Amino acid sequence: MGKNTLYIETYGCQMNEYDSDRIINAIDGETTNDPKKADLIIINTCAIREKADQKALSSLGRFKHLKSNNPDLIVGISGCVAQLYGEKLLKRMPYLDFVLGPRAIPKLPELITEIKQKRSRPVETSFDIEELFEIVPYHEEGKITAFVSVQQGCNKKCAYCIVPTVRGAEVNRPLEDIIRETVYLLSKGVKEITLIGQTVNSWKYEGYKFADLLRALGEIDTLERIRFTTSYPRDITKKMVEAMADVDKVCHHLHLPVQSGSDKVLKLMNRTYTTKWYLESIAKLKEAMPDIAISTDIIVGFPGETEDDFEETLALMNEVEFESSYSFKYSPRPGTVGEELYNSSEKIEDDVASERLSRLQNLQKELTQSKNNERIGESERVLVEDFSKNDPDFLMGRTTHNRIVNFAGKKDLIGKLVNVKINEGLANSLRGEVFN
Ligand code: SAH
Ligand code: F3S
Repeated sequence: MGKNTLYIETYGCQMNEYDSDRIINAIDGETTNDPKKADLIIINTCAIREKADQKALSSLGRFKHLKSNNPDLIVGISGCVAQLYGEKLLKRMPYLDFVLGPRAIPKLPELITEIKQKRSRPVETSFDIEELFEIVPYHEEGKITAFVSVQQGCNKKCAYCIVPTVRGAEVNRPLEDIIRETVYLLSKGVKEITLIGQTVNSWKYEGYKFADLLRALGEIDTLERIRFTTSYPRDITKKMVEAMADVDKVCHHLHLPVQSGSDKVLKLMNRTYTTKWYLESIAKLKEAMPDIAISTDIIVGFPGETEDDFEETLALMNEVEFESSYSFKYSPRPGTVGEELYNSSEKIEDDVASERLSRLQNLQKELTQSKNNERIGESERVLVEDFSKNDPDFLMGRTTHNRIVNFAGKKDLIGKLVNVKINEGLANSLRGEVFN
């Protein structure tokens, strides 16, 4: 059986990026950026909002004609859309060879062998995969940062969310596996890891909690920085805050999705906290780390959200002064509680939701700009990641607060922590000069 040449397209969150890198390592072969040169095409899909899932499906259609030119070509769908629609996708797309759920990646080699031998069309969407964390992701040579998965699935039941349906219940990765993967990445030149999980701070394993994980990673010498995402507000503990403050390597940035500033809407969303609780958590974080930067996710137009509710969200944004935020119009997902509400009289019309979204995003732009302006004249420790996208004479890196900084510099600084004096605050980044 010959080696594979894989073309892979990735949609969605960090988890999917990580899974695509695992897929690369799972197959025996190499990757290509040109689908015409591939004998294996995989679209790793996202189902979080309707638009995302349609985009993924329509992208598959582009490969139909390649199949008529090359009958040996294997085309597969993986990720959350694969899990959500399963078997139905084979009916809808006669050129599709396999459907692979996000938990079943370790089964991919078997699936490919089976297809090559029998020309069958397997659907593997089982959650019950023993080797869940076994395949480590492909790591691109020279990359300074890397994700490390610490958890799969989610045990929360947010009314709008499809993740627990498509990624299953929470399973936490053993501490020693996380350390092993981190040490391996460090041997490849990585300086910063980002722990990823749907509710990363609820991680626990054999008596260890998230704070213990941060402390254990903090002991590893050559690791410069630790980030993690996404935190669930209710799972912030005193020990977690203390560990964040104590362990120098842990960056002073927390992504803490609030979703809404209205207690009524939070309850409808089943988020299990109130705005008071959220604000008190932020106060505790700021007490331990006065400089901490907070970013968030917000949904507008959830069924039942009135203009007053929405204004409470704007007020909360002003109060917390979020560094940045990802904001979305609510999108009903099949089988969720939110979908039932959406089909009732509580639905918010699309033009109302769009208008709210644009007001919210304008406010965020102002908040981000003023946060960036505050940095002018300050010095920042920046971990240099790469050349700037647009100018090879410039480098880019991030501050502990996860702000992007661009500055003039040479290749040899990549992978180093440098001091940068900030002299300009742009809409989504800073500019400065290295000094020592
Ligand atoms: N815990 C996850 C959250 C996954 S979804 C994480 O690791 O990021 C990311 C964000 O998408 C959520 O925080 C929420 O703001 C948004 N989202 C989820 N379901 C949505 C839906 N049905 N409609 C609109 N936005 C949604
Ligand atoms: Fe989704 Fe809520 Fe879990 S947003 S991923 S159900 S914490």
